[in-house]
Amino acid sequence: MQRQTLVFEMMRAPCSLLPVVITICYLMAGPHNCVAIPKKTSCYVQDGRADCRHLSLSAVPPDLPRNITSLDMSHNRLKGIPPATLTPYPGLLHLNIGYNSITKLDPGLCQTLPLLQTLNMEHNQVYVLKTEDMSHCTNLTRLIMASNKLKLQGEPFSALQSLKVLDVSMNKLQSAKLSSQPQLPSLVSLSLAFNVFTTLKKDDFSFLNQSFLQVLNMSSVPLKTLEPGCFTPISSLRTLIMDGSNMGTLVISKLCSELSGSSIDVLFLRKMKLITLSNNTFKGLQKTNLTFLDLSRNGMVTIEPGSFQWLSRLLTLILTDNNIKLLTMDTFQGLKSLKKLQLTKALVGGHPTPVIKDFSFQPLSALESLILQRTAVHAITEYTFTGLTSLKELDMSWSRYDSLRNITKKTLVSLAGSPLRKLNLTGTAIAQINPGCFSVLRNLTTLLLDFNFIKQNITGKEFEGLGQVEEIHMSNNHQTVNLGSMSFVNVPKLRFLTLARSLRAEAVNLNPSPFRPLPNLTFLDLSNNNIANIRENMLEGLVNLKVLKLQHNNFARLWKSANLGGPVLFLKHTLRLTTLEMDSNGLDEIPAEALRGLSDLRQLSLANNLINRLKDSIFDDLNSLQVLNLQKNLITAVRPEVFKTPLSNLRLLVIDKNPFDCTCESMLWFVTWLNDTNVTSVPGLRDQYMCNTPLGYFNRSIMDFDGLSCKDMTPFQALYILSSTAVITLIVTALLVRFQGWRIQFYWNILINRTLGFSDATVEEGREFEYDAYIIHAEEDSSWVERRMVPLENDQCKFCLEDRDAVPGTSQLQSIVENMRNSRKILFVVTETLLKDPWCRRFKAHHALHQVIEASRDSVVLVFLQDVHDYKLSHSLLLRRGMLRPCCILDWPVHKERVPAFHQKLLIALGMTNRLQN
Ligand SMILES: *[C@@H]1O[C@H](CO)[C@@H](O)[C@H](O)[C@H]1NC(C)=O
Ligand SMILES: *[C@@H]1O[C@H](CO)[C@@H](O)[C@H](O)[C@H]1NC(C)=O
Ligand SMILES: *[C@@H]1O[C@H](CO)[C@@H](O)[C@H](O)[C@H]1NC(C)=O
Ligand SMILES: *[C@@H]1O[C@H](CO)[C@@H](O)[C@H](O)[C@H]1NC(C)=O
Ligand SMILES: *[C@@H]1O[C@H](CO)[C@@H](O)[C@H](O)[C@H]1NC(C)=O
Ligand SMILES: *[C@@H]1O[C@H](CO)[C@@H](O)[C@H](O)[C@H]1NC(C)=O
Ligand SMILES: *[C@@H]1O[C@H](CO)[C@@H](O)[C@H](O)[C@H]1NC(C)=O
Repeated sequence: MQRQTLVFEMMRAPCSLLPVVITICYLMAGPHNCVAIPKKTSCYVQDGRADCRHLSLSAVPPDLPRNITSLDMSHNRLKGIPPATLTPYPGLLHLNIGYNSITKLDPGLCQTLPLLQTLNMEHNQVYVLKTEDMSHCTNLTRLIMASNKLKLQGEPFSALQSLKVLDVSMNKLQSAKLSSQPQLPSLVSLSLAFNVFTTLKKDDFSFLNQSFLQVLNMSSVPLKTLEPGCFTPISSLRTLIMDGSNMGTLVISKLCSELSGSSIDVLFLRKMKLITLSNNTFKGLQKTNLTFLDLSRNGMVTIEPGSFQWLSRLLTLILTDNNIKLLTMDTFQGLKSLKKLQLTKALVGGHPTPVIKDFSFQPLSALESLILQRTAVHAITEYTFTGLTSLKELDMSWSRYDSLRNITKKTLVSLAGSPLRKLNLTGTAIAQINPGCFSVLRNLTTLLLDFNFIKQNITGKEFEGLGQVEEIHMSNNHQTVNLGSMSFVNVPKLRFLTLARSLRAEAVNLNPSPFRPLPNLTFLDLSNNNIANIRENMLEGLVNLKVLKLQHNNFARLWKSANLGGPVLFLKHTLRLTTLEMDSNGLDEIPAEALRGLSDLRQLSLANNLINRLKDSIFDDLNSLQVLNLQKNLITAVRPEVFKTPLSNLRLLVIDKNPFDCTCESMLWFVTWLNDTNVTSVPGLRDQYMCNTPLGYFNRSIMDFDGLSCKDMTPFQALYILSSTAVITLIVTALLVRFQGWRIQFYWNILINRTLGFSDATVEEGREFEYDAYIIHAEEDSSWVERRMVPLENDQCKFCLEDRDAVPGTSQLQSIVENMRNSRKILFVVTETLLKDPWCRRFKAHHALHQVIEASRDSVVLVFLQDVHDYKLSHSLLLRRGMLRPCCILDWPVHKERVPAFHQKLLIALGMTNRLQN
């Protein structure tokens, strides 16, 4: 494909005006709305066609591509067309130099352009056209010379052997006779429209007697006289256009008789002020094969009986835009082949109101289509349409027939004999349809009742007899229609039902649903009805439903999770849905299961709602989705958890005008997807998709969002998470150890002891001793020992208490020595009192130490009931904490719950081997 732009010198005047234009525009519209439309300065070349229109050029541009085949120089300032200016383009097939000021056609033009097929010179000032001017134009097939001042000299068209179309309209030609010699053998279409001759002479068209002219346009030619035989040279004529030529009825009938021997097929007689048709106007057409007659815009008032009796082969009669007052059974007499009768605006109001008499259409036994659009007629009776035995379509839309206000069984009974398929009663001011009113229309498949005032309960009887009906359109009936469970029982084949802006708000809140009898329904429109309440089973059984339109209702509550009894999942019965429209319903929630199973859905529209956060995977079953509209909601994030599936096959996405949050977690995935997608079209992406937050991106396009910043963040983020985790772990551990450390230790000990046993001392080690521990304590602490230590004794563990276990018959000293020797460990219950007790201090401690040293035993265990300074300890008992293994130093806990742990530790300390560790 070639696309070239060429710049030419522009006229100076418009150029200097440009700043002025811009200034005015600026003052009027403000700086933001001001877009000065730049003046075109060059020809536009594409596919070998050069378009140089409206460039104020005074000559053909010399620097267009040489190989162009088409050049449009119309609407410029050419004064002539010197062949030399066209020599660069010898391949031209089509040249348009219309709307210039050319006065002469240069003989060299067709020599320079030997291949030229089309020459358009309309709206110039060509005056004299001579024989030699076009003597080389043998390849020309189309010559448009309309709107010049032609004065033919000699035989200017004689060389045009290939010409098919000649247009010499609007040239003030005084005659239709373009030549006296036969020529233009290929001519098919001739336009003589808007010329001023008033007479067609016998031999005017004789120059065409070797051609096969098919189309003749003589619009607005004020013909008054037609000489007999004037059409004889062009008897091959099939289409004659006489629009706007005010000939009068008599001249028309003369015209028709002159056409008698022709092949006339199509006749346009529009805008001819044919006020009255008489019974012989068309008489001359009796022998023709006329199939199409257009009589529109004639202001026709009267059609005399039998006016059309001559047109037995007519298939189409157009009477649009007339003022006919009366149709009788004689009006259409003889139109026995007529298939289409177009009467749009043919019978309009005023005084008197037009009348269609009974049996007016009876002659039209072949009529298939009767169009009575925008007509106003006195009444429809029981016999108005009688005899239309082939009628398939009756269109009375936007008409005023009083009889239609209240349609009863009798209103349309005259159609009983018609195999009517389509009845259009749109906009006919119907207020009520009564039981059985359509019952005679047994073949009806389409019933149009839109834009009426129907105000009633549809009980179902109204549609009696419509067993074949597949479409009922009943939209725009002012929300005054009420339904019942039986409304549609008589139309079981219904496939298409529209009830938009027609229903009362509660009309469908029924059980069973009014739609239950319609298993074949594929299209249902309930939009614009303010419906707030429906039941979950509204669509039950509609397994074939494909299109469901629910926009402009009030479904928000039905889909709320807080709805009493849970959200109403009414779509679960219609799994073959392909289109769902729920715009403008105030929805702020979509239940997780609402769209489950809709795997055929191709279009989903939820625009103009209040949807904010979409639950993960609500769209996951929509894998056929092609169009998704979420425009004008409150969506901040387009997350893959929600949108990955629906966006995978999408052709069109509309999600603009939402308050997008342009942060990495909300927008990164979407922006990346938008950047990568090559199948989905997203209109207005640049200027309709704006960030709302964070502040830094406010009101900027989401496409400005820098995805790379998120990618750079990734390692830092990992590091951040890692380090913060470490810090938190540390803090928790420290706090745990500080406040619960004993507990941890306790359980650790239990664990260790369970697995390894209490003692690391060998079994033999214990055998040598009678006691496990000799307890040294101050006198005052004996009650503590009594309460806390003695209960620990059992078979495995035996303490030696001096008061209790003194060896009988020995001195106290002796007894102490003896018992110490028989104890595996020596346990000091350390309190301030003990340190002050001279007995203990002096003797027991010394002896104990002596024994320890003597037996090389690591056998001392200290239990602190009070916090005692190490200095005092060593001073009184000659012991330091550091001399002992940590496990042999115990503190009596302040907290009661720690007592078991203390016991545990004590048992461990007592179980330690006495052998000195190296
Ligand atoms: C005309 O010629 C140009 C090169 O000058 C070429 O690119 C273009 O394809 C040609 N167009 C036609 C319709 O032959
Ligand atoms: C008409 O066109 C053909 C090619 O289609 C060409 O050969 C012939 O020369 C043309 N006739 C004239 C008179 O230029
Ligand atoms: C035409 O109508 C006139 C009366 O208006 C009647 O006398 C005449 O017989 C009719 N001609 C035809 C052919 O119907
Ligand atoms: C119209 O319906 C009748 C039966 O009700 C049937 O016999 C006839 O063939 C139908 N005509 C058309 C054109 O469908
Ligand atoms: C529904 O349509 C199918 C197929 O077009 C047809 O066989 C069936 O009879 C229709 N059902 C009713 C109730 O008309
Ligand atoms: C879209 O792009 C992908 C790869 O990026 C490619 O495989 C696929 O054919 C493209 N589709 C269209 C319709 O261009
Ligand atoms: C969009 O794609 C282009 C290349 O196709 C790439 O250079 C750019 O970084 C992408 N932008 C984002 C936001 O992914």
